[in-house]
Amino acid sequence: MPDAAPQPRARPGAVPAVEVSGVRLSFEDRRILDGVDLRVMAGERMVILGSSGCGKSTLLRVMLGAYRPDEGRVSVFGRDITAMAEEELNEMRRRWGAVFQGGALYNSMTVGENVALPLRENTQLDDSIIAIMVRMKLDLVGLSDFEDLKPAQISGGMAKRVSLARAIALDPEILFFDEPTTGLDPVTGGGIMRLINDLTVKTGATGVIVTQDMSCAFTCADRIALLHGGRVHAVGTPGEIRDSSDPLVRQFINGDPDGPIPFRLCRDNCAGALRAPPRRKSGRRPRPGSGEAEPAASP
Ligand SMILES: Nc1ncnc2c1ncn2[C@@H]1O[C@H](COP(=O)(O)OP(=O)(O)OP(=O)(O)O)[C@@H](O)[C@H]1O
Ligand SMILES: [Mg+2]
Repeated sequence: MPDAAPQPRARPGAVPAVEVSGVRLSFEDRRILDGVDLRVMAGERMVILGSSGCGKSTLLRVMLGAYRPDEGRVSVFGRDITAMAEEELNEMRRRWGAVFQGGALYNSMTVGENVALPLRENTQLDDSIIAIMVRMKLDLVGLSDFEDLKPAQISGGMAKRVSLARAIALDPEILFFDEPTTGLDPVTGGGIMRLINDLTVKTGATGVIVTQDMSCAFTCADRIALLHGGRVHAVGTPGEIRDSSDPLVRQFINGDPDGPIPFRLCRDNCAGALRAPPRRKSGRRPRPGSGEAEPAASP
């Protein structure tokens, strides 16, 4: 296991950037989130770990206002986004950027157009200024000469970098990452981790990083939260998590197939045998900006 790599940085502030309280969410009759409480302080890098299918991406989408929870609330910089109208939420969305698990790039647009999109939608900047900013952001993620290519013409790792360049287009106060290093070679993964740290440490932005990659977790986290059974099972600094005697935490960080976290999944127990109470069919649809409506990037 790689060492935690503490970076010189301002201490995370006392103000919560994101506060999740008592969040419950079901899909049909399957309860995925069952009372999640989590507070991410401004300037902090919070890593959310958990086994595949436990609801990490779902939680991230709730934090982004892409899914409304059935119960509970999510506050961003003290404002309850679960109660917000779409217009108000769109205003808030300017304050954060998200890198989705599959990249979520628009296949019909070039790499440059994808990165330019938030600038076109949210600013009145001239095309020439936008072009300079797009080049700067792509340069920052190490992709200088790829502006004119389409997502289908780049690799999955490159698509993640483009997605990151798009996420930082508006210099957000919070950066959300869903599996930023999964499926990448170690060098590219290391480069992405360094970028996550640089982008948050140097700008003071808050980072919320969902991952199963322990190297990413211990390199990027100020604190780590382990999601299990629809709740935050444990939260602590990388040192506290590493030294934890909790069997579930130990199993997860050691990658042990035997233990309280089941290897075998069945449809009804993805989040730990959680059965939701009967509910009206909500016909839940992804809200705009969920990363779900957009066509996926190259695999
Ligand atoms: N839109 C949806 N409709 C119905 N079920 C969903 C939807 N999105 C997610 N799920 C279910 O919710 C559960 C959690 O999914 P989620 O994608 O949040 O898991 P995850 O922890 O991110 O997994 P992974 O590590 O594999 O990415 C899964 O059982 C999944 O089938
Ligand atoms: Mg996921």
